[in-house]
Amino acid sequence: MPVVEWNDNFKVWVEPFDEHHKHLVDLLNQSYIKLVHDAPLENCGELLDELSDYVSYHFVSEELWMMENSYPQYEQHIAEHNNYIKQLQEFQQDYKQGKAETSLEIFIFLRQWLIDHILKSDAEYGRFISTHNKKPDL
Ligand SMILES: [Fe+2]
Repeated sequence: MPVVEWNDNFKVWVEPFDEHHKHLVDLLNQSYIKLVHDAPLENCGELLDELSDYVSYHFVSEELWMMENSYPQYEQHIAEHNNYIKQLQEFQQDYKQGKAETSLEIFIFLRQWLIDHILKSDAEYGRFISTHNKKPDL
């Protein structure tokens, strides 16, 4: 599975979040390259911690923004985020315990999940904000 090339299809047209997503895709690509090529899986811990921290920061930013804008699918969106955080934490744990093969598979899943989330659920709030003439940024 190659790295993911960022393109305009990923845009949700909400200013800070497009930048966040771009950074996330970049971190996911970097992590993927490291996990695939830097066997044995050493020195990936910091990158994964960075990814995890950034995911948390980004999700909280989106959730606050959704709340402020009375986004109707707020709860469902938060549930998706929480599910992702849980799986990311499980992945980190596996990685730290040296379950490399399983971890790589899980990681590919995590990356794909995030891409799908941006393209579907995040795109949904982008459409909501543009049709309701809400303030498009934080
Ligand atoms: Fe989201």
